[in-house]
Amino acid sequence: MKPSLLTAFLVLLTVSAAAQPAPGRMTPRKGVFEFGPATALAADEALLPLARYAAEYLGCPTEHSMTGTGAVVLTLDPGEPSEEYLLEIEPDHIRIGATSPGGVFNGLQALFRLLPPEVYARRGIPEGTALACGTLCDKPMYGYRGMMLDVARTWMEIPLLKRFIDLLSYHNINKLHLHLADDEGWRIEIKSHPELAQVGGFRGGDSPVVPVYGKWSEKYGGYYTQEQMLELIGYAALRNIEIIPEIDLPGHSRCIGSLHPEIRCNYPPDTVATAGTDYRSAWCVAREENYALLDDILGEICELFPSEYIHIGGDEVEVAQWERCPDCRAMMKRRAHTDPHRLQDYFMERLTAMLTARGKRPAVWNEAAASGTFTRRSRVHGWQNVDACLRTTAKGYRTVIMPSECFYFDMRQTPREEGHSWASIFDARKTYGFDLRARGFTDKQLRHVEGFEAAFWSEIYTSHEPEKPDYIDYMCFPRVCALARLAWSGNAEGWESYYRELVSEHYDRLAAMGVGFRLFPPQLHYKNGLFTAATDDGSEIFYTMDDGRPKRYTGPLRAVRPHRYRFFTRYKTGRSPAVADNSYYRVIGPALTITSSMAENPQLPFSRAAAYKNVSRTRRACRRGDWLLYTFDKPMECREIFLQTGHQQLPKTQITAGYAEVSYNGKDFEHAGKLENGSILLRPGRKIKAVRLVATCHGNGTPFVTIQPPLIKPVL
Ligand code: ACM
Ligand code: ZN
Repeated sequence: MKPSLLTAFLVLLTVSAAAQPAPGRMTPRKGVFEFGPATALAADEALLPLARYAAEYLGCPTEHSMTGTGAVVLTLDPGEPSEEYLLEIEPDHIRIGATSPGGVFNGLQALFRLLPPEVYARRGIPEGTALACGTLCDKPMYGYRGMMLDVARTWMEIPLLKRFIDLLSYHNINKLHLHLADDEGWRIEIKSHPELAQVGGFRGGDSPVVPVYGKWSEKYGGYYTQEQMLELIGYAALRNIEIIPEIDLPGHSRCIGSLHPEIRCNYPPDTVATAGTDYRSAWCVAREENYALLDDILGEICELFPSEYIHIGGDEVEVAQWERCPDCRAMMKRRAHTDPHRLQDYFMERLTAMLTARGKRPAVWNEAAASGTFTRRSRVHGWQNVDACLRTTAKGYRTVIMPSECFYFDMRQTPREEGHSWASIFDARKTYGFDLRARGFTDKQLRHVEGFEAAFWSEIYTSHEPEKPDYIDYMCFPRVCALARLAWSGNAEGWESYYRELVSEHYDRLAAMGVGFRLFPPQLHYKNGLFTAATDDGSEIFYTMDDGRPKRYTGPLRAVRPHRYRFFTRYKTGRSPAVADNSYYRVIGPALTITSSMAENPQLPFSRAAAYKNVSRTRRACRRGDWLLYTFDKPMECREIFLQTGHQQLPKTQITAGYAEVSYNGKDFEHAGKLENGSILLRPGRKIKAVRLVATCHGNGTPFVTIQPPLIKPVL
């Protein structure tokens, strides 16, 4: 039966009356609490450090008396320690009570969220601020709400980490997984082996640690002393964040392998193709002395970090190294294995024993649990994909859900933005919308889900030197907000509702926190010579044309040449990516030949880039005077031509310094500008026959130069 309008209306009424407040929302009562000159913080003895923390934000003094009217009181209540909190707002006081300091911290953040965003700027709250009375009792859905920072690939200084910890803590993230050692760097002092950090913390230049990402000629890096790390652990702990250290083993160990070549497998690698660099990255499993060194390292890590779990890696081990090693092969034979992955099981068991002896448990990447023999006293980080998480939870491993396709915040957010794209391209909406049930987790598997984690891998962060921390902010926010919401209370309210909250509440808070966050791009529409751009987030719209100078967009624009326009938005510290009409992105592929004084790599010949298909490589690196020549079959007309060596965000295998020359007749060349990041953008203005890139550098720290397909835009 078709429902009548009246019954439909009644149903709507019933639904809205029964609707729960959105997660973390107050049940209101009559009356208000007013902040004023007499407002002070009072706390139980054990919570005084938190009271001092809160006083900085609220701009009021801390008092030892628990009775003053107008007080914001923090109490540690009896009971099993948990992260749940009760926030009561009464006309004469505010009380935040919990059974643990972490719970009280969560309650404080709930209070901050009720206050004007300026609270995060730590300038005190505006006079006369009043809060409606009410009660809020809330607790997280998941005990593990984590973020991983890769401080190994790119060195991140303590102030940057403290700022990041602050930002995470405002979002009730409670775990910071620090990826402290990888192929590219060793970032934590080990007193019994000081060379690990003192030498392995630096790469490039004369360091034995050869960079793969970032700069080659310049030695750069750093490491955390144990004393600094202790202070950081305390800083995070006050903010209800546990730091979980990771030493990535037995793969991803090229850095330590460069300092201690004896830990690698027992065979001389072929280094002709790599200009003498030994890129092997795995520890030899069969070398007994390796376990003594590992015991020293893990011993100090266990001593330093209070966390119960120590992450020992286990991802992406190149087992081919073990298969080539006579000692590893002999070990497989002794142990009657035919699968080299069983050597990893053995290795991880040995590490686990070292942790267990010190009262700790191992955390690992999902590969380490693949065979199912690894101990269930572990915590598994499911990163490869959802299937990996399904498998580990099915096997009974307590799993942190972090499939890269939704939780690797180094991935770009739309196809034409910066960032990696190998796992997927996604924005905050996809992170927020991650749905365990829809992805096939059964009740039994859900019981093994510890929570969620996101990761910021830093391979390409080095290329953003001048704009740190803007790049990390842009990549992580608002995706961290979405992660935090998902892990704290799930996503049942739906994206539309959450997006409205992002826009109306989070953006102002992020701005007050000083975060250079990402806005969603504006919607563009072009028809019959008229551009319209729109946003739904209150941001201002700007556009640029060829000169790159931003102009305010105030209404529909008459534009007969739409490819010349790019639109973006700004809201306080937030910025959107620039977007354009499809015509802006159109490219052409005029017939072309590439030649070079550096000869071509037969496996990756120049014809690949010349066919606009894929990258090509030279046979050797560039020396001063070396050239790359792009010759068009016929003089070619275009609006723009972008020629690129190396990779834009991985400044390696490029012509690190040089210039471009253009020829209109194929014989005479004229200077056309300097290369930047191994690339040049030309706007020739008339038909060109050839472009030559000439090197002025001697080498680029790698054995070759990569040539990207040219990007040529038509005259429109
Ligand atoms: C990983 O991304 N290799 C854990
Ligand atoms: Zn070996």
